[in-house]
Amino acid sequence: MLSTDVITYPTLSFILYLAFTVYKSPVQTNHNIQKNIMEDSDMNSKEWEGDYDPLADPDEKQHLLSVLDSFRSYRRLAHFNGTHVRRQAFYSLPQEHWMMLSKPPFSVLESLNKLDDLIDSNAELAEYIFMAGFKSFIAPTIDSDWVASIVPEKYARDEFQVYSIVMDHLKVQTTQNDMDKARSCINQFYRDWSAAGSVEREQCFDPVLRALDAEYTSRLQSTPDLKKSQIKVLIPGAGLGRSVFDICQAGFSVEGNEISYHELIASSLVLNHTQKAEQFSIAPFALSCSNHLTRADQFQTFAVPDIHPGTALAAELDSDTPAGERMSMSTGDFCVLYSSSDYEATFDAVTTIFFIDTAPNVIRYIETVRNCLKPGGIWVNLGPLLWHQAPRGPNVNSQNEDKHSHTHTHDAGIDDPGSVELTNDEVLALVEHLGFKIEEQKTNTLETGYIANPRSKWIDVNNNEFSVNVMYIVAHILIEKPIWFIETKLLNATSASSAQYEHQAPWCDKPGPIIPALDQHADEC
Ligand SMILES: C[S@@+](CC[C@H](N)C(=O)[O-])C[C@H]1O[C@@H](n2cnc3c(N)ncnc32)[C@H](O)[C@@H]1O
Repeated sequence: MLSTDVITYPTLSFILYLAFTVYKSPVQTNHNIQKNIMEDSDMNSKEWEGDYDPLADPDEKQHLLSVLDSFRSYRRLAHFNGTHVRRQAFYSLPQEHWMMLSKPPFSVLESLNKLDDLIDSNAELAEYIFMAGFKSFIAPTIDSDWVASIVPEKYARDEFQVYSIVMDHLKVQTTQNDMDKARSCINQFYRDWSAAGSVEREQCFDPVLRALDAEYTSRLQSTPDLKKSQIKVLIPGAGLGRSVFDICQAGFSVEGNEISYHELIASSLVLNHTQKAEQFSIAPFALSCSNHLTRADQFQTFAVPDIHPGTALAAELDSDTPAGERMSMSTGDFCVLYSSSDYEATFDAVTTIFFIDTAPNVIRYIETVRNCLKPGGIWVNLGPLLWHQAPRGPNVNSQNEDKHSHTHTHDAGIDDPGSVELTNDEVLALVEHLGFKIEEQKTNTLETGYIANPRSKWIDVNNNEFSVNVMYIVAHILIEKPIWFIETKLLNATSASSAQYEHQAPWCDKPGPIIPALDQHADEC
């Protein structure tokens, strides 16, 4: 039973306000239970705060419902795709073949039964995520009398069933894309929140923590009473929030940022609503049937979370600022949120872990890091350049989109048209070009992957799953505005908006791209 306010998730857009919520289990009559389940949810509405209401926009609401449905449907769809389809395929083999494979040492049918059990185990976590998300977003908006009228009495005490029946009445249907994301989100708990995942975490998080500690130590020389909690760290692309938790636990003040509802709702569950360490058991490799040495490897299970965040942070005595005041999470596109003037010079450090390659236009990410860092602030980056976005042209998101929307009159962030995939040395050059001084830079091959099964290393060693080149950069902001910006400003001094930060090409009297020589852009001038 969780009772203390330990973690807050404050910020712009809508915010996770991670108030530790008390699950009430009062003695009630059956008749009122559905109603009360919904009414109890109202207290959770405090968890997500801010001035952005995702339910006010029909498209956003649809998306959020689809994400919730992807977690709710995990069990059914995983059984269907994971075992039902495979049993059908198995029985379609010649009879003598499937009979042979049904017996030891193969026992394929027994393996499928075991897989069903593991799916149920993963589904338990997925359904908790669904319930946490439903309670936060949907329950407060729904009339509990109506809910009481549609839920049969036999389900009255079953929170999952009550919410699920509401979803059915709302005629929600998830998409294939969201189902895939729910599946990978469950698997991601292995990397972020299992003891075994510490192998991957240590390789990626430890260098970042070391750089933050070194920065703190160096600042102590000029400011001896500086507290660690006075160092404000931003973590864009925070995923399931483990680095947010670890950096907070190390004493810093930290704000995570995440664009994906899957990740946000799941991180909210683990940070805010888990009741103990090892509450769930997951089998992250079970549903992928290729590349296993043995069935035991495929069916490995891991207890999550390896640590109970609420207990750990409540017990944290090193800092004079309670963990609840040092940890928050914002939702939304990093580029849109943190390039605004509201966030100018706000953070002492930005850490990007396995993040910058999510950018269609990495210049926008670097500019955004620069905007929200205080002068002299530090950016620590660790991750590969496995560019996530396929090349995209001018009208990628909408047929009707204004051809010139890249002028940023409407900032669509990562949905803006255009993309570029740069090499390691090009990114490094860009970082310096945009006003950073790189103090340490390494390009290493990490002999680990991202949610990679260590027992499959023998085959995976040459692909990106298990061996990945990562770029590690520690860079300080050298100058508040980089040289090219100042030049641009001078060249465009007559432009009405010259005072405003704008991507202004020097040869062009209207906003344009930073990098010259693209014919199509030159034509537009
Ligand atoms: C590869 S994951 C890395 C997660 C985490 N940093 C880690 O190391 O485990 C990249 C994360 O960035 C998030 N993301 C992608 N684009 C984003 C954006 N523009 N703003 C905020 N988050 C974003 C994704 O949803 C995803 O959770």
